[in-house]
Amino acid sequence: MGYNTLAVVGSQWGDEGKGKITDYLAEKAEVVVRYQGGPNAGHTVVVKDDTFKLHHLPSGVLYPDKTCILGNGMVLDPPVLLDELKALQGRGIVPQKLFISDRAHLIMPYHKKMDELEEKSRGAEKIGTTMRGVGPAYMDKYFREGLRTGDLLDEKEFALRLAFILEVKNRLFAGVYGEEGFTVNRIEEECLAAARELLPYLTDTSLLLNRELDRGARVLFEGAQGTMLDIDHGTYPYVTSSNPVAGGICTGLGVAPSRVSRVMGVTKAYTTRVGDGPFPTELKDIIGDRIRERGREYGTTTGRPRRIGWLDGVALRHAARINGFNSLAITLFDVLSGLDEVKIATAYRCEGRRLEEFPAGLGILEKCDPVYESMPGWEEDVTETGRMELLPRQAQQYLKAVEEVINVPIALVSVGPRRDQTIAAGHLPLGG
Ligand code: IMP
Repeated sequence: MGYNTLAVVGSQWGDEGKGKITDYLAEKAEVVVRYQGGPNAGHTVVVKDDTFKLHHLPSGVLYPDKTCILGNGMVLDPPVLLDELKALQGRGIVPQKLFISDRAHLIMPYHKKMDELEEKSRGAEKIGTTMRGVGPAYMDKYFREGLRTGDLLDEKEFALRLAFILEVKNRLFAGVYGEEGFTVNRIEEECLAAARELLPYLTDTSLLLNRELDRGARVLFEGAQGTMLDIDHGTYPYVTSSNPVAGGICTGLGVAPSRVSRVMGVTKAYTTRVGDGPFPTELKDIIGDRIRERGREYGTTTGRPRRIGWLDGVALRHAARINGFNSLAITLFDVLSGLDEVKIATAYRCEGRRLEEFPAGLGILEKCDPVYESMPGWEEDVTETGRMELLPRQAQQYLKAVEEVINVPIALVSVGPRRDQTIAAGHLPLGG
């Protein structure tokens, strides 16, 4: 049986505008699902004149009738998630069908503290995390010292486990960092009270999702962060702690690979990166500043100015292969209007050698200079352009060059934050 499912995956260092694209596609979906990450993500979605900033919740939540799932691969910060839900409720959006995995891990107050202390202790080697406790929560998951949402269903067992974990953590805080530890009361106040309010949403989401798939539901898998921040396939160690790539869907949800039928990559028309780490096409000049201002490139979660660069076709090719993109969505395309020339890196040059594929080593990356394909820019504002053929000739030429670099067809071009500022090229996946 064929499944009507689509994954929307970031192909850069996050912030590709996946929120806008998933929101656009969610109209046709019945189920919208997140499979990894936590409140480090910041999805901005504009509906009419209203701007919503989501961290844990999938963008589908803005359609209250859709089934929304937070999968087991996520790490959740209960008070933050609760605030997000309340903020939506305050604006009249009450999700009717929200489900949270009983196997997702909890971000505890000591994880946030650890994130801060570890970043400080790294000095110049810092990763530039979002300080949301995401890395330490995943660390505990794999260290088998994590606490999961469903653990709270057995209060007695939970209290015993928490007491044991706090003892370990407090020894660490005192011995390694010379810092005060955490009491059970503090954990209760700062986290558990909120976590209990989330209990009604808990369920075995793998079971729920697979039943939906069995009945033929149209499902949208919404990635957070991006391929170049993937713990395995990104620019390690300057990465996040989960697998944003399409492969993460299977483990992060308990869904078989055979049930993920199509994958759409999302890329900005240029590149941005927030946080430290290699960035071969980075622009530290007036063109970079101009793109930052026009694209309002400041982090949704942390407010940090984003680093800017030309589109990196080498990284994009890496992402296309790892995720198996069938189609591509280009976002923030309107930001490129008004530049004399636009560029795409098609390869790197490293110590006299030409590299076509993204290398693993940071040392090599530092020595890589992009090889650019340069094209004439276009003056015209494209924010209200509704069809591909109506885009300026140079803009069409640029899009064609992107398709050729990775050999993947473009399905969507976003020319502004609103839902209706989206140009669809031909047949869209998830057609209802
Ligand atoms: P962490 O996920 O907070 O541990 O941060 C690790 C790295 O991933 C840092 O470079 C962050 O800036 C980056 N990062 C995490 N989440 C996002 C996101 O949603 N968008 C962009 N960068 C992110």
